[in-house]
Amino acid sequence: MNQHIPVLLADTLALLAPKPGDSVLDCTLGLGGHSEAMLRLVSPDGELVGLDADTKNLALATKRLEPFGNRAHLVHANFREIPRCLPESLRTFDVILADLGLSSPHIDSPERGFTFRSDSELDMRFDQTRGMTAAMFIASVDRITLRDIFNKYGEVPSAHRLTDALIDRRATNPVRRSSDLVDAAKSVYAHKANDYLPQIFQALRIAVNDEVGALEHFLRIAPTLLKPGGRLAVISYHSLEDRLTKQTMKALCTAEKDIITGAESRAADFEILTPKPIGPSDDEIKMNPRSRSARLRAIRASLVYTPHP
Ligand SMILES: C[S@@+](CC[C@H](N)C(=O)[O-])C[C@H]1O[C@@H](n2cnc3c(N)ncnc32)[C@H](O)[C@@H]1O
Repeated sequence: MNQHIPVLLADTLALLAPKPGDSVLDCTLGLGGHSEAMLRLVSPDGELVGLDADTKNLALATKRLEPFGNRAHLVHANFREIPRCLPESLRTFDVILADLGLSSPHIDSPERGFTFRSDSELDMRFDQTRGMTAAMFIASVDRITLRDIFNKYGEVPSAHRLTDALIDRRATNPVRRSSDLVDAAKSVYAHKANDYLPQIFQALRIAVNDEVGALEHFLRIAPTLLKPGGRLAVISYHSLEDRLTKQTMKALCTAEKDIITGAESRAADFEILTPKPIGPSDDEIKMNPRSRSARLRAIRASLVYTPHP
């Protein structure tokens, strides 16, 4: 999330343990911080595939990773597109990382519409080359879906009232700019609106980018791309995403049992590397307040695991 200090860098490297010659898949390049550190550790001949949905971040990461030449394969893609977006030559990996959500430039660039602190077009897409902006989304979504989004992704109090305000006003007064959304929130929550704006904006961002759908896809496919002994880590910033990651990893690491005898009938293909999620230290939070909600979880494939990309 921060250009100079990637979130939970030391813990992530300790768990993923990239070694010389390893192949790495970084599904969320961002500014390339984790990728740069991993490329150093897999030198001299290890390779990395890096994906990002955001062309601007991809350009910044490309510049940063230039010194690694053709050992870094950088692709404009959503990780919802794995494995088909991967280069032919690199389809299985020793190390896979997803550091979810948005990056500092998203918040620090008011024109992207991620923040309520300045007025701009309500865009909120990671990938500005395709898909619906948040303004288009609000203009077309139905009432129940919108209410569920505010409830599930933002735990927004009285979500139905905000939903009604947006749906009722959109025919005459479309929500095109971040200030329109702020005005709608003020019409519902009055002086308390400022307290809820972070959750309201977060909920819409998660919906516009289908972040939960993308994570579900990632958690289904990424483990199948791990080489024997390969390691996979996820850093999430939302309790819903952390819960999804925890449950999926737990299922992957559970041995099959005989339904009659209860005896283990098939060993699990993976083992948990983080019995509890790892969060940032007080020092890291002080240096990078945006790391506050980060939760890191990781698993390792067994030495006899067969990837099936
Ligand atoms: C938290 S930042 C990653 C920071 C990075 N680890 C670093 O060290 O700089 C998340 C990045 O993932 C990208 N992203 C989010 N969801 C994505 C998805 N489904 N597919 C591809 N990229 C995604 C965002 O555009 C953003 O650049």
